[in-house]
Amino acid sequence: MHILNHQNLKTLNTFGLPVNAEKLVEIDSIETLMGVLDSEYFCKPYLILGGGSNVLFTQDFPGLVLKNELKGFEVLSEDDKSVHLKIGAGENWHETVLRCVENGWGGIENLSLIPGSVGAAPIQNIGAYGVELKDVLVRVHFVDLKTRVAKSLDNTVCEFGYRTSVFKTTLKNRIFITHVEIELSKKHTLHLEYGAIKDELNKGKIKSKSKSESITIKDVSNAVIAIRQSKLPDPKELGNSGSFFKNPVITEMEFQKLEKDFPDIRSFKVDENHVKLAAGWLIEQCGWKGKRIGNTGSHAKQALVLVNYGGAKGHEIWTLATEIIASVKERFDVQLEPEVNII
Ligand code: FAD
Ligand code: EPU
Repeated sequence: MHILNHQNLKTLNTFGLPVNAEKLVEIDSIETLMGVLDSEYFCKPYLILGGGSNVLFTQDFPGLVLKNELKGFEVLSEDDKSVHLKIGAGENWHETVLRCVENGWGGIENLSLIPGSVGAAPIQNIGAYGVELKDVLVRVHFVDLKTRVAKSLDNTVCEFGYRTSVFKTTLKNRIFITHVEIELSKKHTLHLEYGAIKDELNKGKIKSKSKSESITIKDVSNAVIAIRQSKLPDPKELGNSGSFFKNPVITEMEFQKLEKDFPDIRSFKVDENHVKLAAGWLIEQCGWKGKRIGNTGSHAKQALVLVNYGGAKGHEIWTLATEIIASVKERFDVQLEPEVNII
């Protein structure tokens, strides 16, 4: 176990905030994790960090950062229809998607180019372009940090929902996810219902495919990558953590009232009684899109993404976020909630 003192986290969070952690340790095996838990260094506060793509540090971290580096990619079983994988939580999510696509294993191609680690993916049940992790997830393995016991939870008891799970609620800060099991398909069902995917597929190379050549999961992955690159800033160039807020879900009755006043409002039906509003549209309507305040602002191509133009402090980004929350509340009487974990 190698405990590092006074570590700068600038390269370990996608907002690029140069905060300091009092101590940091890389967890590259379960034995290392157990050793740390039994050592004098494991005390509160502690923070598990994967790719740092869903956190906002508002100050230095006065405790121990457990940087997840648990690797591994194992085929547990396979037949001619599907493959069952067990993946180390410290593997990179996007590289895992590409590896699966290259192998012809379908189910996560719509989740291409989402930054971060495999282990963080179940926490907010990552989702994009009509697919969520829960659609392929079998089981999550973790160590309970209180009892030090290794356990697992099957999909049905993970309480998955839109950008949430039991790991983001009841078990938040109580467990260290070590492995994730997923089941992917060799007979592909493509998810093309998100309009932008079809438009992208109809462009360029895909359009020139002959009728007998069908669309592949690789085509879908490439289309999703192209769409994302056209509107989401690359954290390597502009610090951000994707959508800063969740899309608010309101009741059908509340929606009908809103729609009377704002007939252009962008929304998606969730179920009989619930409607999801496009937070990006709400924020844009309040005049924030592309607006820069000091070194932070709302992105010009996607209002839901808050950015660090360089040199911003975490608390400045949080101040901007609270101002956006207040103005959306005032104009639409809708409460925005952060998707990002505020530290
Ligand atoms: P981190 O930011 O390191 O951690 C997030 C939280 O999980 C923290 O609270 C941390 O303590 C906890 N945590 C991390 N690893 C573990 C572990 N092993 N055990 C226990 N707790 C842990 N998300 C989507 O859902 N859909 C998108 O389309 C999407 N697009 C994005 C685009 C961009 C450009 C960016 C920057 C982010 C985007 N995100 C998206 C958000 C983010 O990528 C995901 O939430 C991702 O799963 C976070 O992974 P991470 O490893 O970076 O987590
Ligand atoms: N919109 C605007 N103005 C904006 C941004 C969006 O009017 O500035 C409108 C768009 O025109 C569209 C609607 O809002 O009608 C939805 O926009 P988009 O398709 O870009 O998706 P989103 O709802 O803003 C969500 C996720 C993303 C995910 C995409 C694709 C949330 C909070 N965000 O964004 O996830 O990649 O859909 O599925 O659910 C993330 O979680 O970090 C993230 C990037």
